[in-house]
Amino acid sequence: MLSVLAVACSQGDPIEKRIDDLLAQMTLEEKIGQLNQVTAYATEGMCNEAAAGTIGSILNLVDPVEINKIQRAAVEESRLGIPLVFARDVIHGFHTIFPIPLGQAASFDPALVEEGARFAANEAVASGVRWTFSPMVDISRDSRWGRIAESFGEDPYLTGELAVAMLRGYQENEKPLAACAKHFVGYGASEGGLDYAPIHITERELRNYYLPPFEALLKAGCMTLMPSFNDNDGIPNAGNKFLLGDVLRGEWGWDGCIVSDWGSVGGMIAHGFAADAKEASKRALTAGTDVDMMSYAYINNLKGLVESGELKESVIDESVRNILRLKFRLGLFENPYVEEENYQAAFYTPEALESARKAAVESAVLLKNDNKTLPLKAAKGERVLIAGPMADAPHDQMGTWVFDGQKEHTVTPLKAMKELYGDKVRFGYSDILTYSREECASLELAAFTAQAATYDAVVLFLGEEAILSGEAHTLVNLDLQGSQSALLKAARRSGTPVIAVVMAGRALSVGKDLENMDALIWSFHPGTMGGPALSQLIFGNEVPSGKLPITFPVAAGQEPIYYNAHFPERPASGSEVLLADIPLEAGQTSLGCTAYWLDAGFGPLYPFGYGLSYTTFEYSAPTTDKESYAKDDTIQVSFTLTNKGAVEATEVVQIYVRDVAGSTSRPQKELKAFERVTLKAGESRQVTISLPVERMAFWNLDMEKVVEPGEFYLWASGNSASGEKISFWVK
Ligand code: NOJ
Repeated sequence: MLSVLAVACSQGDPIEKRIDDLLAQMTLEEKIGQLNQVTAYATEGMCNEAAAGTIGSILNLVDPVEINKIQRAAVEESRLGIPLVFARDVIHGFHTIFPIPLGQAASFDPALVEEGARFAANEAVASGVRWTFSPMVDISRDSRWGRIAESFGEDPYLTGELAVAMLRGYQENEKPLAACAKHFVGYGASEGGLDYAPIHITERELRNYYLPPFEALLKAGCMTLMPSFNDNDGIPNAGNKFLLGDVLRGEWGWDGCIVSDWGSVGGMIAHGFAADAKEASKRALTAGTDVDMMSYAYINNLKGLVESGELKESVIDESVRNILRLKFRLGLFENPYVEEENYQAAFYTPEALESARKAAVESAVLLKNDNKTLPLKAAKGERVLIAGPMADAPHDQMGTWVFDGQKEHTVTPLKAMKELYGDKVRFGYSDILTYSREECASLELAAFTAQAATYDAVVLFLGEEAILSGEAHTLVNLDLQGSQSALLKAARRSGTPVIAVVMAGRALSVGKDLENMDALIWSFHPGTMGGPALSQLIFGNEVPSGKLPITFPVAAGQEPIYYNAHFPERPASGSEVLLADIPLEAGQTSLGCTAYWLDAGFGPLYPFGYGLSYTTFEYSAPTTDKESYAKDDTIQVSFTLTNKGAVEATEVVQIYVRDVAGSTSRPQKELKAFERVTLKAGESRQVTISLPVERMAFWNLDMEKVVEPGEFYLWASGNSASGEKISFWVK
């Protein structure tokens, strides 16, 4: 096992000596070549470039034979024999596809996230890929933004914990897969949820909410980092000296490699931040962006900039050090090649498939279950009608960012239900909607109602096609697409119990659909093994335990909506008048002047952290071991958790804190700890959670990271909107 912790401190490291030796022998052209990253193209061309030393890394090549061929040109034919590193976006699995990161976040299970990343790394490394552009740790509060699918959601603490787990899975292996902390920083806050759009986030806001997961990742040894496409306060992130230099290299002392996002050195021209590629290259490199992914800006301009005296060669040297360090740390100088025989044996192993199934189980969130509709009984003669666009959508259930997972390996719910329960249950299937945007006629809906009336239950698999979320896929309307709401109504009219399972890359505004379903399971695109996982949840062989990693809005117009917001000056009481009840010609201030939505009410559809089970859990009021703490103390929070139902189940217990008054406004609540606790039916257990006081630190009025003395509220609860409040004090 490699210790990733060793990565952050390089002084006295023999690798540094080897970098110095190599650098002393390199020509300017060879140095610039190391900073040039290209996507795969014709093999012969890549071999020629590798031999000439004009490329340092290649992305999007996954065939070991090809990889070895080009690597041989680099190692055996180039003057200094510096190996290439091959990169790929391995985001939630390589061949075996795990739930999208937003789904993995719903598991609140770092160990499972780590395990999934390790399977992904095994499969990718077997193919010759040694660098992935993951984990993405953009704090994402807005479901209009399609890339929320790739995130761990809205909470900095949860994101940091899961990202570090994912990092371990990628990097802590015999042959590490280098991870990449992206997109640095604030990308998820793009205005209007529009991808690539500007952001305007203050330094304090960055430091309190957006930077912490990056800091956690880099301090845990993440080998690389990618600045985001967007600009913040007029500075594109790939050209932000303060963030890339002062914060990341200076304050955090990180010595990894910074790779631009695709074309984003050249993208500075689009931002109006550089007149041409030459100026863009200079601004990006001097800010700290080491490697130019797909702008060809460095390779075409850095030499001229050095020769004209506009750029010091020593600036280039620093960046070359960073990419060489990555190659040394990956062991590529000793071991540049990949096994060509039988590498596919690493794909879709039974262990990886089981891990993907488990991840899909844990990432499903039960949002509604009236009259204990779920689980269904797998009893002889039961008749269950399956329908909906995601019931048999092997491509779409894998979700966004899947380059290598093959749909032939996907097990859909339709297939799994029949395989697992077909010996008892009589399944029917309707293909009334075959993709999420499809519209159908009222005659077809009427026929569906008649068909559904002859069954004991209707299970509708709804949601979004994979292409509707992910990069560049912004929506302003978060309703179910096509005729899916109409299908729910048609099912409801049959009088048969209706179970909805939504597979999506984001939260959708399904509030108005709830009356047409008895039960609702949210499954953020669940990946290869989504079918068995969901079938087992529906029939009770598994018990839901997932919790929402994002706040669900009533309507898209509430976005961005998130639980850890600051208070508005005039919070609503919850009894204010809503749109339909406003008297005609009501006086301007007669409604009370508080913060609520006239047409959407007082809050979200479902709060952060929410999720039901097939049992109910009861929490006693929490206690702390003392009333008052010093800043370096650790608080012991205790409470009794009781499983009140008849099945063994797991509860994600969550500890929230509010700093009652600070030198700046403080969030309404912040998640400070969580733990998965499994209890047998009827079991009670005392749960004790350690909470270091330093977790209450924030960047205060003086821009210092401190725990400010005073009163804090604390809740131990199963979601962010409930629980009994207690107080503790920090001296
Ligand atoms: C663009 C995306 O923003 C980034 O996340 C990805 O890693 C690169 N393209 C490389 O494909």
